[in-house]
Amino acid sequence: YAHLARGAEHELSLDGTPLSRIARDFGTPTYVYARSAIAQAYSDLTRAFGDRPHQICYAVKANSNLAILALLARLGAGFDIVSGGELQRVLAAGGAPHKIVFSGVGKRRDEIAAALEAGIGCLNVESAAELSRVSEIAREMDRIAPISLRVNPDVDAKTHPYISTGLKDNKFGIPIAHAPALYRQAARDPHLSVVGIDCHIGSQLTDVTPFSDAAARVLALLDQLVLEGIEIKHLDLGGGLGIRYTDETPPDAADWVRAVVDIVDAHPIARHLPIYLEPGRFLVGPAGVLLTRVEYLKPHPDDGKSFAIVDAAMNDLMRPALYSSVMAIEPVTPHATLPPATWEIVGPVCETGDFLGHARNLALAPGDLLAVLGAGAYGFSMASNYNTRGRPAEVLIDAGEARLVRARETVESLWANEMIPDTLR
Ligand code: LLP
Repeated sequence: YAHLARGAEHELSLDGTPLSRIARDFGTPTYVYARSAIAQAYSDLTRAFGDRPHQICYAVKANSNLAILALLARLGAGFDIVSGGELQRVLAAGGAPHKIVFSGVGKRRDEIAAALEAGIGCLNVESAAELSRVSEIAREMDRIAPISLRVNPDVDAKTHPYISTGLKDNKFGIPIAHAPALYRQAARDPHLSVVGIDCHIGSQLTDVTPFSDAAARVLALLDQLVLEGIEIKHLDLGGGLGIRYTDETPPDAADWVRAVVDIVDAHPIARHLPIYLEPGRFLVGPAGVLLTRVEYLKPHPDDGKSFAIVDAAMNDLMRPALYSSVMAIEPVTPHATLPPATWEIVGPVCETGDFLGHARNLALAPGDLLAVLGAGAYGFSMASNYNTRGRPAEVLIDAGEARLVRARETVESLWANEMIPDTLR
C-alpha cells in the first residue's frame, strides 16, 4: 500500500492526508479511497499490455460509487456490469456504452432491453435460455444484439468456495463442451452478432496458473469456432486478479497480463484479437480503507477473549463475516507507551459473526481510530442497513483534498420507502 504512510508521530495517512483529519471532518465509520492509487493500478495494467490491443472493463460490483466510476471512465476504462442498476450508474458517471460488457446468470427482460437500448458492447450470455431471450428481445426491438458466450472452463481458481465460479458445479457460464452448438445457433440468428468468448473463473486469485489454464481452454474453443467459420472479435478472460490483504503474495499487474498475453499471442488467430479483462478488486481494493473508532474495550479478566467494540460492523464491511476474510487492521495514531494486547475487533451488531478481525495484537484505548486496509473493493458495495444502521460516508482523497463522494445515510432515508397502512394508524 504505497499510498498509505506514517508521518509525524507515526500517524497513518492516505495519500498524504492524515486519517485522523478525515475522522474529525467526516466522522466514523467512513470509507476513504485514494484516487491516485486507483489511477496507478489502472495504469499498471494498461502499461503491462503496451501496444497490445486490450480493454479493461472494471467490474462495477467491486465499488460502484459514481465518483469511482467517473474516475475510471476518464482513465479510459470500460465496465463489466451485472444489473440494470449498474448500467444506469455507469451511464450516469459518463462511461462509454460501447465499452460495457454485461455479465450475470439472471438478466431480466427489462435489463437486456435497457442494455440494447444503450448500445452496450457485449452481453456475456450465460445459458441457452438466456441466448433465446436476448434474441427475442433484439427482434422485438429490431436490433442486433452483440453477444459472447460465457463459458465455464472447469478450472479450479483455488480461492474461497463462495467466490470460485469456474468449476463445473458452479452456477456460472455454459459448460465449454456445449458452447460450439450454441455459437452455431447464435451465428445463424439474424438478431444476434457473435463478438467474443468470455470466461471468469473466480475472485481473489493469488496464482496465475488457473488464469492461464482458463485462457488455454478458451483458445481451444476458438480453434473449434474458427473451423466452423464463426468469427470472434475479442477474448474476455474475466477478472479475479488477487491483492494482498495480509501475507498473500499475489502476482503484480505485469505478471497477470503476461500470463494471458503469452498464451494468447502464441495462437495464430488469437494474437490479433483484443484481450478484455474484468478486474474489480485489483483496481480499487488496495486504494481504500474503512476508518472506524473504538467505542468500548471489554478486556476479559481471566483467560477468555478481550473485545474491542468499534463503530463499524458486519453491515458496513461484510467480508470477514461472510468469507472469514482476514483484513489488516492498523492503528491510525499508535500509542507510544501503552502495551499491546490481543483483541477481538467486533462491531455493535447483534450477531456473533459480527467481527472485523480476530486475535489482533494492538495497543488500544477507547476513542482510538483504526483503519481496515484493502477495503476499497467489496466493502461499501456489499454494505447493508442491518440493525437500522445507515451506511458509512465515502470520501475520495483527490490531489490532497478530501472530497465527500457519498454522504452518511440518515435514518429517514432508510425508511423512505416504507409506509404504515391506514389500518395501523
Ligand atoms: N467478472 C465477473 C463476471 C465477476 O463475477 C466478477 C466478480 C469479476 C469480474 C470481478 O472479480 P474481481 O476482479 O473483483 O475479483 N464479494 C467477494 C468477491 C465476489 C466476486 C464476484 N465476481 C469478496 O469480497 O471477496
